[in-house]
Amino acid sequence: MSFVSSTGSTHIACVMVGLPARGKTYIAQRVCRYLNWLGIYTKVFNVGNYRRKNAGAEQPHDFFDPSNPQGAVLRQAAAVEALIDMFRWFNHDGGVVAIYDATNSNRERRELIMDHCNRNNVQVLFIESICEDESLILSNIMQVKLKSPDYAHTDPENAVADFKARISHYQKAYETITEPSLTFIKLINVGSQVIINKIQGYLQSRVVYFLMNLHIQPRSIFFSRHGESMFNLQGKIGGDSELSPRGLQYRSALPGLIEKHLGGEMITVWTSTLRRTIATAGLLPYPKLQWKALDELDAGVCDGMTYEEIESEFPDDFANRDEDKFNYRYRGGESYRDVVHRLEPVIMELERQHDILIVGHQAILRCIYAYFLNLSHDELPYIQIPLHTVFKLTPRAYGCDIEKYKLDIEAVDTYRPKPKITGHSRSSSSHSSVQSVVPQTTS
Ligand code: SIN
Repeated sequence: MSFVSSTGSTHIACVMVGLPARGKTYIAQRVCRYLNWLGIYTKVFNVGNYRRKNAGAEQPHDFFDPSNPQGAVLRQAAAVEALIDMFRWFNHDGGVVAIYDATNSNRERRELIMDHCNRNNVQVLFIESICEDESLILSNIMQVKLKSPDYAHTDPENAVADFKARISHYQKAYETITEPSLTFIKLINVGSQVIINKIQGYLQSRVVYFLMNLHIQPRSIFFSRHGESMFNLQGKIGGDSELSPRGLQYRSALPGLIEKHLGGEMITVWTSTLRRTIATAGLLPYPKLQWKALDELDAGVCDGMTYEEIESEFPDDFANRDEDKFNYRYRGGESYRDVVHRLEPVIMELERQHDILIVGHQAILRCIYAYFLNLSHDELPYIQIPLHTVFKLTPRAYGCDIEKYKLDIEAVDTYRPKPKITGHSRSSSSHSSVQSVVPQTTS
């Protein structure tokens, strides 16, 4: 897919703006994860990491004082080095969207960035995070900044005091975006108010729409495959079969399990439009919504066949799927890549919602799981989502906690591991049980 803007540029830099502890790195990571999941190659360039590499991590607050000439030179050098790496990545590594994560909190710095980006034919979307809520700022300092390498050897009380002093230095020079010529989105108090200016083109509008839907309220996403179906028992894929006797047992046991782990909270249940998910959710005493977009990956002419039948009737297709499972599209059907695009509105709605339980299908839940766990397109089609197991995902500031509850009701194993392909570097892998995924950058 290629994204060419009205200026002819295929490269976009999302440039973060805001005082420290305003959630910039969090927003940067979320946008990065979303775009990579969609297949748009995206990378975060965190200026704090360059500063730590060049000047050392544990700089006291006066390093950030605008009147400290030595600090100013080193900070400017880190900012420029990150920019240069960003352009190298665009030009040599096929990058599409870069997220330039730094404070960029005055006009002079933004002019420098615009100047470099214009010369390199890169479009710029500024993302400013403004937060006046002292409790949110303090919670950000406690949850995120105290874990930063900047304070690895500082006791928490001194670290909070030092970080607050660092913020005051930035406050002296801070200029919110008022430049009317710039393309920007301002998120005020975690999106309770949003201001946008001169947004252009498909990709920028996707990013803006995504940002408008983000919230930071605590919540969990529960999901489960439907109970074992008659097609599962026969080893057939697709179809719209009924639940097996063991699938019906799972349907009966599911309400108790969910109730136990919800702790009396309300939840909304989403199913596909296929019989096996609707039946599985049938006894759950919560509001329900059917989504066509949650229907299982369409296996086209192979719908209703076993893997052995597909291998003997369509040997080339079978081999091609093993070669590149994410991109392989069934004849007359879909690929995992197609399913990711079909699920985009579901993800957007999940971002807006509080607790949700999805009763879904293997391929669909793999795509949703990969989104929250930031897994690659290579890993995605091999994620293990066994039958008769409820997953609970709890998004955290950086990463996502996973809990799994397996009900003691036997079911067939529908998992097909990644085959060994001779002559290639690929090896058979079964996906390990990842417990949390934490990105590398902190600012
Ligand atoms: C900056 O954006 O001002 C640099 C951030 C840092 O050095 O941590």
